[in-house]
Amino acid sequence: MTSGGDAAGMNPAVKSAAEYAKKCGMEPYLVEWGLRGLIEGWIHAATSERLSGILHRGGTVLGSSRSKRFFEYQFRKKAFENLEKMGISKLVVIGGDGSFSALNQFHADFGVPFAGIPATIDNDIPGTDYCLGVDTALNMIRQSVDCIRDTAASFSRAFVVETMGRHCGYLAMTSALATGAEICLVPEIKYDLDSIAEKMRLEKEQGRRYLLAIVAEGTGMGESLTRWMNDALGMDARLTVLGHVQRGGSPTVYDRIMAFKFAVAAIDALSAGKTNQVIVFRDGTFGNIAIGEIADIKHRVDANLIELCEGLSR
Ligand code: F6P
Repeated sequence: MTSGGDAAGMNPAVKSAAEYAKKCGMEPYLVEWGLRGLIEGWIHAATSERLSGILHRGGTVLGSSRSKRFFEYQFRKKAFENLEKMGISKLVVIGGDGSFSALNQFHADFGVPFAGIPATIDNDIPGTDYCLGVDTALNMIRQSVDCIRDTAASFSRAFVVETMGRHCGYLAMTSALATGAEICLVPEIKYDLDSIAEKMRLEKEQGRRYLLAIVAEGTGMGESLTRWMNDALGMDARLTVLGHVQRGGSPTVYDRIMAFKFAVAAIDALSAGKTNQVIVFRDGTFGNIAIGEIADIKHRVDANLIELCEGLSR
């Protein structure tokens, strides 16, 4: 099943988890519409027909949801009865930490083991360096910012581009570096507008004609930074909020390959008798950690990335 915010890479993960499970002698099923589908019993056999032609598609063909009802025991019981009826004894959930916590509660209630595959463009799940969907989102942002640079340069303007990421600045930092933005504001780094203004003034004197700033949505600075560019830097400034375009698009090669590897690791973990584990990718290797341990880890963006971006915040 896929659950929570959709992310590119969910479909290849669904396909490879189901196909690998078959290879391991299991009988896989697909849950539609996430936790809601579990409650309603929207569950189908993972036939070749359902699994073909989905690999390259963005979002999730199974559908997803953020179900408040799953917090209530009576609805979790209904979900358990649906699984029991169909003889389903293990779950693979592709989603974020909210979905993993929900299934952890489900495991505590009814003992159904699950393996979680991290998927969110925010890349903010503790314990893993990578979540499915991030590379596709970054390429989407990169493409958009490259386009904005064309018009910014042609018109000698300043542009603020706001990226998603909730409270995490990973998308903003990585795309600021990849697109050569002059300014980057994220929740993880203390910024200094006076020092940025001084730096930009000098660059303008040396011939800089346009300016790109990438701002993480978690800073809430998109509009005020745009006004500041007008007022303090004296530049004609525009704001582009990229929004949900970052969540769509065909998964990149990296997301597809990572999806295969996460899926195999999830099925292997369940086959090995693991119960409530999240599959993680750390320092180049796959592993799994208990969801309980994740709750104790605070997510931190890679310190090297923060260091590289500090110069863009002051
Ligand atoms: O968690 C993924 C994400 O796209 C965040 O980056 C963003 O803040 C949020 O979901 C948007 O949520 P919704 O799709 O409910 O508007």
